[in-house]
Amino acid sequence: MPRINPGATIGFLGGGQLGRMTAFAARTMGYDVHVLDPDPTAPARAVATRFIEAPLDDADAIVKLAEGCAVLMPEIETISADGMARAVSHAPVRPGAKVLHIIQDRARQKEWLAAQGFPLTPFRVVHDEQSCERASASLVGSCFVKTTTGGYDGRGQVRTEAPSGIRAAWESLGKRAVVVEQAVDIAVELSVMVARTPSGTLAAYPPAANHHVGGILAWSVIPGVADSALASRARQLASSIAEELRVEGLVCAEMFLTKGGELLVNELAPRPHNSYHESIDGCATSQFEQAVRAICDLPLGSTTSLQPAAIANLLGELWPQGNQPDFTPVLSSESTRLHLYAKRSARTGRKMGHISAIADSADAAVSRVVAARNALARAAGVAEWVIGPS
Ligand SMILES: Nc1ncnc2c1ncn2[C@@H]1O[C@H](COP(=O)(O)OP(=O)(O)O)[C@@H](O)[C@H]1O
Ligand SMILES: [Mg+2]
Repeated sequence: MPRINPGATIGFLGGGQLGRMTAFAARTMGYDVHVLDPDPTAPARAVATRFIEAPLDDADAIVKLAEGCAVLMPEIETISADGMARAVSHAPVRPGAKVLHIIQDRARQKEWLAAQGFPLTPFRVVHDEQSCERASASLVGSCFVKTTTGGYDGRGQVRTEAPSGIRAAWESLGKRAVVVEQAVDIAVELSVMVARTPSGTLAAYPPAANHHVGGILAWSVIPGVADSALASRARQLASSIAEELRVEGLVCAEMFLTKGGELLVNELAPRPHNSYHESIDGCATSQFEQAVRAICDLPLGSTTSLQPAAIANLLGELWPQGNQPDFTPVLSSESTRLHLYAKRSARTGRKMGHISAIADSADAAVSRVVAARNALARAAGVAEWVIGPS
């Protein structure tokens, strides 16, 4: 597999914050960056020497991007399959169409994971009246009903009680294809990022522990698990998934550790993941640099956690009346760093940036980022986050 060496051009399919931070890493390593995104104010545009303003399902635009690049990296799952199929005659797309096809659709992803024997929450796929009846008859207790496509940050999902609530939940989601899954009694949510090169080398990060508020990731910390046997089980599970997928690039496995001690796969992301933003501050190689190394078939970097590091997301509600907050509390508190994605407009729930911090322990790192985030919350008059179980 020929290496793609520094000096070459990497094309990003999607120009959000994940593309922006990967593009920074690529530029640091001497690559050029081109970006395709429908939004002319896309966060990654500032880091690119060429920007193609086009929808992610515009196959001609994807081919145009590929013509000028040595490799393409999707930073979002919803890329046109036709575009990717045509792009590969100009430049490889990593991860490729096969991996995106499996992950793109929640039902297909879960069916693939189940077929490979990976541990999952019990689930049913509902796409019509009959399958809705069958799901209602076979599940009991609290369930999540999730659309198979288009859901993120807790959107496109409803929590309900089986059997009675399933039909109403499915109807409230517009009778679209959905996955109904059993709610799990979660001890902690973990994620494990794995990089795999086209040549087949693989590197897994230590697990991150993740805390969600209202279905959106609030904060995240590495190392997320003190128990080394559990950490290696989680890394092994994610590595096996990356191997089975033969992913070229990154894949992140979100997991639930149940109160009963089971480790279940929640969902996969074939790209950098919000829960590994603290790898910039705390790990020998950031997830973004690792993405570049993986898609360019360079030797992978060390995934060692050098020091405990945490992030807290800055969501749009912290922008009072849409105006940028005063960041003094973040800039003046010990060890906290400010990362902004340069998004032009703030909306509730929109990821505008994050705060990161390192500390002597994982708990102390979380305390620092949450305290700094809560200072912004008080100023904006929005609810503070409380550290503790979900
Ligand atoms: N089966 C479940 N049991 C318990 N909590 C769940 C379950 N499914 C989702 N959640 C909660 O909702 C969050 C978002 O769900 P997820 O399936 O990861 O969707 P998204 O694509 O929005 O991230 C999870 O991280 C978890 O906190
Ligand atoms: Mg998720």
